[in-house]
Amino acid sequence: MFAKITAAAHAAPQNVVSNDKLSTIMDTSDEWIYSRTGIKNRHISTGENTSDLAIEVARKILDQKNLDASELDFIIVATITPDSMMPSTAARVQGAIGATNAFAYDLVAACSGFVFALSTAEKLIQAGQKKGLVIGAEVFSKILDWSDRSTAVLFGDGAGGVLLENTGRKPLVLAETLRTDGLRGDKLRSGLTKLKSPFVEGRSEEMALTMDGRAIFDFAVRDVPKNIAQTIEKAELTSDDIDYFILHQANSRILDKMAKKLGANRDKFLQNMAEYGNTSAASIPLLLSESLENGKLSLETNQKLVLTGFGGGLTWGTMIIQL
Ligand code: ACO
Repeated sequence: MFAKITAAAHAAPQNVVSNDKLSTIMDTSDEWIYSRTGIKNRHISTGENTSDLAIEVARKILDQKNLDASELDFIIVATITPDSMMPSTAARVQGAIGATNAFAYDLVAACSGFVFALSTAEKLIQAGQKKGLVIGAEVFSKILDWSDRSTAVLFGDGAGGVLLENTGRKPLVLAETLRTDGLRGDKLRSGLTKLKSPFVEGRSEEMALTMDGRAIFDFAVRDVPKNIAQTIEKAELTSDDIDYFILHQANSRILDKMAKKLGANRDKFLQNMAEYGNTSAASIPLLLSESLENGKLSLETNQKLVLTGFGGGLTWGTMIIQL
């Protein structure tokens, strides 16, 4: 038996903030944001923390499958905006839903987090675990520097996740290539902690997110398409064999360039960043879940999908999966 995605769900805070609304609180415009990113709205939490969104996703999945939480073997939450480092967001989910037999942990790989987590979870299933939740969840709004218009307009809050079970009759993963380049890590940073003890002089400061936008754009359009092409080749497929490309929702211009470089039909690149902005580790499962809901994707087909994350670390990675 192989790992299979048997359900998916998503959640986002109710509060929708449009580009026009942002332009009332900072020096920006709908025209600037939309033309450069494809983003129109983002959901910004006024109450929920990251675990609340992840718990909502977990509960929706359990309801869909009429599954008792005690049947889960593991829960992985990909996030860089945990409620706390300890307990982890995954532990909060485990406790809240009563997954008494599950081990749970967070995985930190920024916008590649869901892909890295799904890859890990598939190995857990191959190693004998039966059922697990893989969730990407972020309340990104709490780590943004709201006085920095160059980053504040890009991100949003949300969560998505899947149930993975050992009930597949064919391999879920046709090929995968996961990468990290820590030497370029300072191009995108958040949550820097500094030494702070009676033995250290000076005061520590908390740092909000910082990003070298140009460098990240270049990384996304240079390294990432190569990674996708290499993985498609590894699977002995061509881009024509891929039904849909479900890529991290950072920016629609990045998707334009990727499609061009891969010689792939742009219509196959699904997107929802217009509604959610960049939700980091949540963006891929959120799009996957929405696309299942609106019928673009179906779990009972053999659709072949490219899932690609890219972001802080730097991290990037592609999985080609068959539903
Ligand atoms: N509204 C209006 N003007 C703005 C804004 C804003 N929100 N932000 C910046 N500007 C101004 C700048 O100050 C600059 O003005 P200047 O020329 O007078 O100095 C001008 O707009 C152009 O700024 P650039 O940064 O050069 O704009 P660029 O065309 O490069 O677009 C962007 C910026 C959209 C951030 C682009 O670099 C990009 O998409 N980078 C990739 C970022 C990304 O996707 N990050 C996330 C991926 S990783 C992850 O998901 C964690």
